[in-house]
Amino acid sequence: MCALTPTPEPLLVRTPLLGFVDQDPVPASGDPVRWGIISTGRIASTVVSDLALLPDAVLQSVSSRTQENAEAFASEHGFQSAYGDDGGLPGYQRLLRDPAVDVVYVATPHTSHYLVAKAALKAGKHVLCEKPLTINAREAEDLVSLAREKSLFLMEAVRTRFLPSVQRAAEIIASGELGEVRWLQADLGFPAPDRPDSRLWRREDGGGALMDVGVYPLTWALFSLGRPQSITATAHLTDGGVDSETALTLSYSSGAQVQAMTSLTAATPQTATVCGTKGMLRCNAPLFNPSELTITSGSGEQRVEKFATVGHGYTYQLREVIRCLQEGLLESPTMPLADTLTTMSLLDEARSQAGISYPGD
Ligand SMILES: NC(=O)c1ccc[n+]([C@@H]2O[C@H](COP(=O)([O-])OP(=O)(O)OC[C@H]3O[C@@H](n4cnc5c(N)ncnc54)[C@H](OP(=O)(O)O)[C@@H]3O)[C@@H](O)[C@H]2O)c1
Repeated sequence: MCALTPTPEPLLVRTPLLGFVDQDPVPASGDPVRWGIISTGRIASTVVSDLALLPDAVLQSVSSRTQENAEAFASEHGFQSAYGDDGGLPGYQRLLRDPAVDVVYVATPHTSHYLVAKAALKAGKHVLCEKPLTINAREAEDLVSLAREKSLFLMEAVRTRFLPSVQRAAEIIASGELGEVRWLQADLGFPAPDRPDSRLWRREDGGGALMDVGVYPLTWALFSLGRPQSITATAHLTDGGVDSETALTLSYSSGAQVQAMTSLTAATPQTATVCGTKGMLRCNAPLFNPSELTITSGSGEQRVEKFATVGHGYTYQLREVIRCLQEGLLESPTMPLADTLTTMSLLDEARSQAGISYPGD
């Protein structure tokens, strides 16, 4: 077990609520915001199909390592410009020179988030970057400092926080209905395809279960209980040096405990259960996009609350980025940079204990 280094930031107790519950994320909230998308990979495609639902989102530009992929993506989704690598200049650098782009969405593998997001901030673009924000806390702190220095918006793309179901879970916890939270259990595991070329299994791409999905159990812990006092981590490593399973225990000064688990081999329940002195809340699978909450009181009475999700569930976080830019906010109160820095320091400490390292460390 290791105590975490105190941060200069005030410790976040719970993430403030935005009152998103039951709000429709689709209607425009202000002037158009012009988007540049960096990469044409799997998640970029899904997120862009949600972005296209928002009338004040302009699908401006997309970049890829190849011009062919950039153009195919642009034509499929209706982007106005497409940039591939050209004459030694990476496609993303060409996109960052496009004055018509206000904000970029970085959807490359983890290990390139820092390089690409830093270049975007230096080019004066606001940034929504996929999770985990970077490979380690040092890189994350550097990006946060740069965004603040340049007065640009920066957010880690943890869409889970913005979902009506998760906002409602946070609201129930904050209301005291469950009493004092004493124990939280959250897991996310799935049998990942056994492909050696997949970024999930490649150490040079920041592979492994903890970095790929650890942010989800941790986000439940952070909005329910805040920053822990200490963390312990154990993991099983593959021959390639990435974790196929990692188990975490977070301890709080109140005595509350969190058990979190990630796996790239096991089909796990993919749920979160928050247990308090007066009752318990459980979300259905998957904990990163739940549609149901079951609340059980101490006397055993149960109620189920159900939630519909617009699009693939990314519309809420995209609405939040657009709203923040329209209102001149440099970070989202629902996904504050302090929480991202806490997550990155927890991941660093867990990796150090479990022996997980990456070339960029
Ligand atoms: N929020 C979520 O729900 C969610 C879900 C899945 C993944 N993610 C995150 O999104 C990121 C991408 O995941 P993915 O599943 O979309 O991966 P993916 O399908 O492998 O796509 C990544 C794309 O990045 C580009 N790329 C590949 N290697 C690169 C490199 N070395 N440098 C720069 N660009 C490179 C490629 O696009 P081009 O060929 O066009 O260059 C590739 O298609 C990861 O960080 C992951 O954690 C988030």
